[in-house]
Amino acid sequence: MFEVKWLWKNLEGNRARYILALCLSVIGSSLTIANPYLSQRIVDTFIAGDDAVQNLTGRRGLLIALCLGMIGFSLLRTGLGYVTMMQYERASQNMLYNVRIFLYNKIQGQDREYFDHNRTGDQMTRMTGDLEMVRHSLAWIVKTIIESLAVFLAAVSYFFYIDAALTWWLLLLAPPIFVTSYMFARRVRPMYIGLRERLSQLNSSTQENIAANRVVKAFAREEYEIEKFRERNANYQQANKAAAMVWLDYFPYLETFAQAFNVVLMIAGGILVMNDRITFGEFAAFSALIWAISNPMRNIGMIINDIQRFFASLTKVVEIYYAQPKIAGERKADAGKRYGGSIRFDHVTFKYDSATVLSDVSFTVHPGETVAIMGPTGAGKTTIVNLIPRFYDVAEGRVLIDGVDVRELDLGELRGNVGIATQDVLLFSDTIDGNVAFGDPELPEDDTVRYAKLAAADDFIRKMPEGYDTIIGERGVGLSGGQKQRLALARAMAVRRPILILDDTTSAVDLETEAHIQSSLNNLGALCTKIIIAQRTSTTAAADRIIILDGGRVIEEGTHAELLERRGYYYEVFMLQNEGIERQVAAHG
Ligand SMILES: Nc1ncnc2c1ncn2[C@@H]1O[C@H](COP(=O)(O)OP(=O)(O)OP(=O)(O)O)[C@@H](O)[C@H]1O
Ligand SMILES: [Mg+2]
Repeated sequence: MFEVKWLWKNLEGNRARYILALCLSVIGSSLTIANPYLSQRIVDTFIAGDDAVQNLTGRRGLLIALCLGMIGFSLLRTGLGYVTMMQYERASQNMLYNVRIFLYNKIQGQDREYFDHNRTGDQMTRMTGDLEMVRHSLAWIVKTIIESLAVFLAAVSYFFYIDAALTWWLLLLAPPIFVTSYMFARRVRPMYIGLRERLSQLNSSTQENIAANRVVKAFAREEYEIEKFRERNANYQQANKAAAMVWLDYFPYLETFAQAFNVVLMIAGGILVMNDRITFGEFAAFSALIWAISNPMRNIGMIINDIQRFFASLTKVVEIYYAQPKIAGERKADAGKRYGGSIRFDHVTFKYDSATVLSDVSFTVHPGETVAIMGPTGAGKTTIVNLIPRFYDVAEGRVLIDGVDVRELDLGELRGNVGIATQDVLLFSDTIDGNVAFGDPELPEDDTVRYAKLAAADDFIRKMPEGYDTIIGERGVGLSGGQKQRLALARAMAVRRPILILDDTTSAVDLETEAHIQSSLNNLGALCTKIIIAQRTSTTAAADRIIILDGGRVIEEGTHAELLERRGYYYEVFMLQNEGIERQVAAHG
């Protein structure tokens, strides 16, 4: 079976330990028949046998040996149990550790499309609960199954050794038990798959709500969110209850069958004793071991439940394990050579799933040039720049850097040549210094300050309680929108890559600060191709070229002056923005 193979593969390095644990389980469980055997000897020789009284005096040594044997076997079983448990725990914990690292790497290596389609809460469920369930199964469920089987087989063999007919009578109960269990398993399996799905939904909504708590507060939607959570929680609880209730449908039958073992033993065993076919001691041995047959039957329900949970979880874990990103490569930051920085879009068409977002986009950016991209919201500006470091791949056409299709470049090298400040600013809960130097942890402190100055961030950083060592909250809590943007800009500049992409990076800063940033961008030192997405004509005016995008198509392209002359979209935007300013000036003057 595929899943079992998967587990086996991941036990590498711990296989010997695991097999040892399995063997010890079998040995330990088989030893359960030792004591009933010894007590049978004691009963037959010293209590119920014909020469019991003589033996008590004459063969005292044997009695003592048998008693010591019973104590010895008990101690041996306890010791074995201890060692066995330790091996199971070690092997399964080691496996868990390895798989968890592997999965984490796997998730880190996924492309953007994967994160578009998979929710954080679900990923967290897989990395924690599901993985723990798999480990639990490996340590406890497999142990229970192996031990139940071993005890059962040992007891049955011993019973056959004592009396085959009586054993057959007892085993008559096995088929109905198996049929009932099978029916139970078939009914409960889909329920556990549903249960697992609801847990993931519950976790996803919890995670999203905690992450977006500020929004919830801003809209005073706590009640609504709590209600939504309550609903999901109730859903999960109901699914859990429903699964448990199914067991209750089958439980009475299985319990009755398990109890019936005692009844059969009493009647059939009693008759055999009366007919002198078996001794009292043998009957006692049957009686002492009957649990070894009935208990596994009782455990079947629990085992089936756990196995279903195990498969529901394992499927989810294996999904990550075998998820192949379409865009992948080694993540060697700063590896390889430095590109010249020319960028060419050659009849590029792009789709998210099936929605076409870019159609037949062509333009060229020469090394060292600054190109601005402008256009209405949703026009596809962010999408264009996402294609340069290959966050997504084109549907048709090509994106070329230094004349080479990005799909033919080494991914680590390609990304090592692009500095990007994304539209959606994400900072880490770390020091400001750590955030600016995120792309280059070796960055000297002087340089951190230099880039912060270039991004017009130095002033506000120095005013913070601990300057560059101030720790900012998750996602940059404690900073204003414009401050976050400036840190993101400093972070993007600090990696000194030949291609710098700024997606709406100055939208939240005032005009004066923006002018400062613009002059910084012109004086970055090393040759750097810049693509700047912006809405303000004050930002785009100085660019070598401006590309106007609308509905995924390039509708205008040229310098500031050329586009104004064309009297198209750019001209409209320019007039709109400057009319406003003129009116303001008039109002104040
Ligand atoms: N991950 C995604 N999956 C599916 N569709 C997407 C995804 N990202 C963006 N889109 C869609 O692609 C289109 C272009 O989005 P894009 O983010 O490129 O616009 P934009 O020009 O950057 O807009 P804005 O000025 O608001 O930032 C939009 O219609 C958007 O709904
Ligand atoms: Mg955008």
